[in-house]
Amino acid sequence: MIRISPSVLAADFAALGNDVKDVSDAGADYLHLDVMDGVFVPNISFGPDLIAALRKNSNLVFDTHLMITDPIRYIEVFAKAGSDIITVHYEACADIDSIIDKIKSLGCKASVSIKPATPANALFPILDRLDMVLVMTVEPGFGGQKMIESTLVKVYELRQEATRRGLELDIEVDGGITPQNAGLVASYGANIIVAGSSVFGAPDRKAAINAIRSEAEVNYCTIKL
Ligand code: DX5
Ligand code: ZN
Repeated sequence: MIRISPSVLAADFAALGNDVKDVSDAGADYLHLDVMDGVFVPNISFGPDLIAALRKNSNLVFDTHLMITDPIRYIEVFAKAGSDIITVHYEACADIDSIIDKIKSLGCKASVSIKPATPANALFPILDRLDMVLVMTVEPGFGGQKMIESTLVKVYELRQEATRRGLELDIEVDGGITPQNAGLVASYGANIIVAGSSVFGAPDRKAAINAIRSEAEVNYCTIKL
């Protein structure tokens, strides 16, 4: 099932409540919440208080992407803020198994992300324990970048491995996704599509979400490598 997760990083921060309601009304499934600490990535965004404030007025699935160092320190606070899915970075964790345990013990879905330079098979030892993986299609840190197409082979490798093991794994892609390339990313096996600029920046957000969804649905898992 294809899900669309607009990233609030591209929303109007002075009108955030309205913008979130707007993409919800426009058909978004998830809300992607990019948390950056200025250490793991060279940018600072927002923290748990903002997520808790948005939670009061939204029924979207909250898809929290923690781009922070040593995230185990903050899992509980982001779970309590209202996250449904919590993604940590493989590169930021000393003990990935403990983090997965912690996320699940708080009732959230557990997800691990890899940056463009990290191979897909880094996730193979933990794949059976994950609800979702997030393959970064840009270097994390900023919205509005161009998708790095060479990252997509990792989506394919993860989809193949999950299918081989009989896992119903969600594979999310994040960075530079538009209606023009959503079919391509889905063809490699991605089923959760993050889109920041191409949704919040679109003149017609509903049309943008519909276009991303229909391109992804038609092309899902069609590539043969
Ligand atoms: C990048 C973030 C992305 C970003 C996506 O570090 O993880 O979620 O906001 O934005 P677009 O879709 O504009 O590339
Ligand atoms: Zn993100």
